[in-house]
Amino acid sequence: MSENRIPLALADAGGLPDAGRILVLRPGAGADLSALPRDRALIATGFRPDHDRWQAAGWTVARAPEGDFAAAVLFLPRARALARALMHDLSGRLPPDAPVVVDGQKTDGIDSALKDLRSRATILSAVSKAHGRAFVAANPGPAAFEGWQAADHTVLPGFVTRPGVFSADGVDPGSALLAAHLPAGLRGRGADLGAGWGWLAAQVLSRPEVRDLHLVEAEADALDCARRNVTDPRARFHWADATGFAPGHTLDFVVTNPPFHQGRAADPGLGAAFIRAARRLLQPQGQLWLVANRTLPYEEVLAGAFGEVATVAADHGFKVLRAARPLVRRRT
Ligand SMILES: C[S@@+](CC[C@H](N)C(=O)[O-])C[C@H]1O[C@@H](n2cnc3c(N)ncnc32)[C@H](O)[C@@H]1O
Repeated sequence: MSENRIPLALADAGGLPDAGRILVLRPGAGADLSALPRDRALIATGFRPDHDRWQAAGWTVARAPEGDFAAAVLFLPRARALARALMHDLSGRLPPDAPVVVDGQKTDGIDSALKDLRSRATILSAVSKAHGRAFVAANPGPAAFEGWQAADHTVLPGFVTRPGVFSADGVDPGSALLAAHLPAGLRGRGADLGAGWGWLAAQVLSRPEVRDLHLVEAEADALDCARRNVTDPRARFHWADATGFAPGHTLDFVVTNPPFHQGRAADPGLGAAFIRAARRLLQPQGQLWLVANRTLPYEEVLAGAFGEVATVAADHGFKVLRAARPLVRRRT
């Protein structure tokens, strides 16, 4: 929650310009947009659940900004490289000295973002409230942010990542463990729920009997990387919320390394929603292959959704679980 910091910071900085579009970057589910004129705002977020939620609430939403704006509001992402890339990009879309509001929690690095900005821009106001901060900077122009551009990064031969995507520096050890335990004879039609930049999907597609694989990913940047990384014609790409994904046919298998964080806090509810999605998607003989941090309590959710659950491997703080015989969902 931005806890009304934005209206306070804006009031101290002289408010928003009276005309022109306002760019609102990556507001999360609890973001307070009450200070912003809805008719002039464009929300840009690559995270599909947020994109759809704001759109359903009547806002104009795009996957990425296009064109110029009179002011911007950036909800600080946790990844510093992504925050910097967004600052660089928005700066080129605003006139010099236009207000740029940055809002975030202390745990997401808002204090170091302010420090970062202070040496490059004039700070017009700053408000600290509710474990977070909002500040307004006068746009210094993109030259002040030279070197902050988003750059694709080759992490392995044939695999690129981008700032802010999950495990951007290399293969996640959980996914590596899962890949090592997937059967060589994995077959039929499958999905990778939360496919990230596609490494795990590529390992699935190294199994020759896989007929096709849906890569379902909510972060547009990660899916863009996956499209570049996974060139196998059996791959299908979906910018979608895995919990509502509907391919139009049942699946023989699902693999997943589900998300386990909402902001800073571990949230096993996300993984549980992925497990329920797998139960819904699988045909009666279908199998779910899941990797998770050993401390995450997924066994109970799995036991409620599948007739058969086994721990296949446990190593380096991760566990690989296989579940079969999806239970028909009873009406409650
Ligand atoms: C733990 S990561 C695993 C990524 C990838 N499979 C790998 O091994 O590197 C979980 C992924 O789920 C994505 N994600 C988060 N919420 C999602 C949702 N509701 N629907 C689909 N993907 C989601 C995240 O963006 C992230 O890429």
